[in-house]
Amino acid sequence: MKFFVDTADVDAIRELHDLGMVDGVTTNPSLILKSGRDIIEVTKEICSFVKGPVSAEVVALTADEMIAEGRKLAAIAPNIAVKVPLTWDGLKTCKVLTGEGFMVNVTLCFSANQALIAAKAGATFISPFIGRLDDINLDGLDLIGDIRTIYDNYDFQTQILAASIRSANHVKDCAMIGADVVTAPPNVIKALASHVLTDKGLEQFMKDWAKTGQKIL
Ligand code: G3P
Repeated sequence: MKFFVDTADVDAIRELHDLGMVDGVTTNPSLILKSGRDIIEVTKEICSFVKGPVSAEVVALTADEMIAEGRKLAAIAPNIAVKVPLTWDGLKTCKVLTGEGFMVNVTLCFSANQALIAAKAGATFISPFIGRLDDINLDGLDLIGDIRTIYDNYDFQTQILAASIRSANHVKDCAMIGADVVTAPPNVIKALASHVLTDKGLEQFMKDWAKTGQKIL
């Protein structure tokens, strides 16, 4: 499973990238706001060291304007995936931009039918939002499973990019179901390394080691 980092925080991306944890990056208008950076500048900086797909999102609502924005974003670097919303105009944009050879990430997906029609429009990635479905007492992971079944039934090549990941358990569950990619905030990726018994075991080892009076270095 590929790990994308869901942030526009360059320092956080770099830290995970240096550990080989970053297969790609996703951003959105809210994450650009949080970064306090200019979208073109920060996306260019991310693409200077991340070689996998870097999603940059359009903000227009009509296909013609989305296509123009998408082309401008795609010109930042060859590894840009233009992110478009799952609307009719977004699907038109997806069809045009993938036809021009660009990667397209169709975002704000909340149903299996939306994922089906995005695949028909040639999406490179589909982004179902797990956490936001859980927020309204629907099961985000069921959606990932449904999309996996549909894409496998018909051999769609669109990659399932599980988004709105809020916990380490979400990552594990997506891996079990067979999502192609998870995009998670840096703190969730770091949390994958944590276990209370690891901390407890290490504490005991340190206490016992101190009693030996030995040193390795
Ligand atoms: O990639 C989409 C993601 O950023 C949305 O996450 O936590 O805002 O629902 P969240």
